[in-house]
Amino acid sequence: MMAGRGHGARHILLVGFMGSGKSTVARELSIACGWPVIDMDDGIERMVGRPITDIFADEGEAAFRSYEHEYLLGLADERPSIVSCGGGVVVTEPCRELLPRLGCVVFLEVGADEALARIGSSSSRPLLKGAAEMRVLLEERLPWYRAVADMTIDTSGKEPGRIASELKAALEERGVLR
Ligand code: S3P
Repeated sequence: MMAGRGHGARHILLVGFMGSGKSTVARELSIACGWPVIDMDDGIERMVGRPITDIFADEGEAAFRSYEHEYLLGLADERPSIVSCGGGVVVTEPCRELLPRLGCVVFLEVGADEALARIGSSSSRPLLKGAAEMRVLLEERLPWYRAVADMTIDTSGKEPGRIASELKAALEERGVLR
């Protein structure tokens, strides 16, 4: 059974743009609260049996988005975990509808400049482009991140450890963590 908004959250799902610190914050929060971490990008690569770059190159973005949905559906059966979601998980409506039903969705907000500075040049992100394109992509996605989120943490200028401790306190306040 899925639980979520209104039924008591199960997973803690971190969403946000590439470079918002989801993976690092997930690991830090896991150390602080003892919940396991699920990295969605890694999980999809295992599920499909190919790296994300190959999936994009061979099958295109739409296929990757449907793998994301398939992967999220499978999370309903997992024990409560901290899920570090792919940056584009909010792009399709089926994923946007599913996310809040899987647990407490946390938007890690970051500006385009800081996101780019944190990512550097990574060849493993097919949608990573120049600064101007990144700004457009971020602007386009902002309303979707906000729509799915139960809470937002501003990560600007903060180290992952500080973000994780702010997040832990906020989750305790809401009774998601004890
Ligand atoms: C994507 C972000 C990536 C990965 C894929 C697509 C996106 O995840 O899912 O390259 O559309 O923003 P990270 O946010 O973990 O880099």
